[in-house]
Amino acid sequence: MKCKITNKPMQPFMSFGKMPIANGFIEKKNFSGEFFFNMEVGFNDELSLFQLNDHPKPEKMFNQNYPFFTGSSEYMKTHFKKYADFAKKYIKTNSKVIEIGSNDGTFLKNFDVKSHKILGFEPSKNVAGVSIKNGIPTLNCFFNKENVANLKEYLGQTDLICASNVICHVPDLNNLIETVSLLLSSDGTFIFEEPYLGSMFEKVSYDQIYDEHIFMFSASSVSKIFKRFDLKLIDAIPQDTHGGSMRYIIKRNTNNSDQNIKKIISFEEKGKINSLESCLNFKKNCEISKEKILKKIRSLKNNGKTICGYAATSKSTTVLNYCNINSNYIDFICDTTKEKIGKFSPGMHIPIKDMEYFHRNTTDCIYLFAWNHKNEILNKEKEFKGEWFSHVEL
Ligand code: TMP
Repeated sequence: MKCKITNKPMQPFMSFGKMPIANGFIEKKNFSGEFFFNMEVGFNDELSLFQLNDHPKPEKMFNQNYPFFTGSSEYMKTHFKKYADFAKKYIKTNSKVIEIGSNDGTFLKNFDVKSHKILGFEPSKNVAGVSIKNGIPTLNCFFNKENVANLKEYLGQTDLICASNVICHVPDLNNLIETVSLLLSSDGTFIFEEPYLGSMFEKVSYDQIYDEHIFMFSASSVSKIFKRFDLKLIDAIPQDTHGGSMRYIIKRNTNNSDQNIKKIISFEEKGKINSLESCLNFKKNCEISKEKILKKIRSLKNNGKTICGYAATSKSTTVLNYCNINSNYIDFICDTTKEKIGKFSPGMHIPIKDMEYFHRNTTDCIYLFAWNHKNEILNKEKEFKGEWFSHVEL
């Protein structure tokens, strides 16, 4: 499917090659039928938007087997508690609150269900099931105009809509923003957090790019996109989650001040974050990063070292497939998610093992794929005395 939000074609500038579904952890018996797509990225000049050119159908990614649970990280649980505390200043007693992509309910459970009417939208059946079990009213469907049409009590009456690491997943952004606008009350607020384009360029964390991450936003692109729907970006606050994210705060096009936004956009313009030139520079940096990590791994192997991967993140699928790193290099990847354990990594087919296996079979070196959870993980694994490394600086 093409990721099209304006009629102006975007300019593809780089391909990461043949890529499988990032969260498509696979059993051996299914290796031969594995799905791949050409992962190409481009830049939409009109909207200053970095995006995938093509992506698999959402149903291929967010299905009954989606293996990502927000609550698997203690750090993220704390983050969502703080995020909810921040968002609560935009609501009052009896306000209606919606979360788009509510996952296992980690964010919404911070709201008092007796004082507010809360509702999550979660398309992955297994994850929505966990949320419902946690007592969070959840609809197991995509958030779009068709699926909110019958929610009469929410239309034009929702004071707060939140999302985290979700909006960049939605190919039909037009439908999504129209849905937000249908639901928001006149003074309602839409808050969402996404990995930040500026941080990805700075860290060369190209593993932020995978099938689910269709768009990589900046304050400039968010401002331009929402303006088309008569909605206004009134603030943007940097976050350190996911290796560098931005929290965007959107209101109807009222008199809200946007002084801070003007500053951020001017900062982005000075840094040429929203330009094809930066994209081409990023491309060069990705190629350098690939050479560097392959050199590192080959040198470790030539010196007889054993390597395992830590955390079978969706991001690791991009790194492993782009750099062609397979089980000749990495013996196994350990992870806490039961849906991934016993399966193999998408495309490169490295075995995924549980933490008990990891602690029984320590290797000389660890490739940290969850580099964005570095503090939490290194703190847990103090016993390991070998070398930690990653493609981004640790
Ligand atoms: P993400 O980077 O896409 O959020 O994926 C996080 C993955 O990392 C998820 O599969 C759980 C795994 N993980 C661990 O195995 N151990 C940990 O300590 C943490 C924080 C995450």
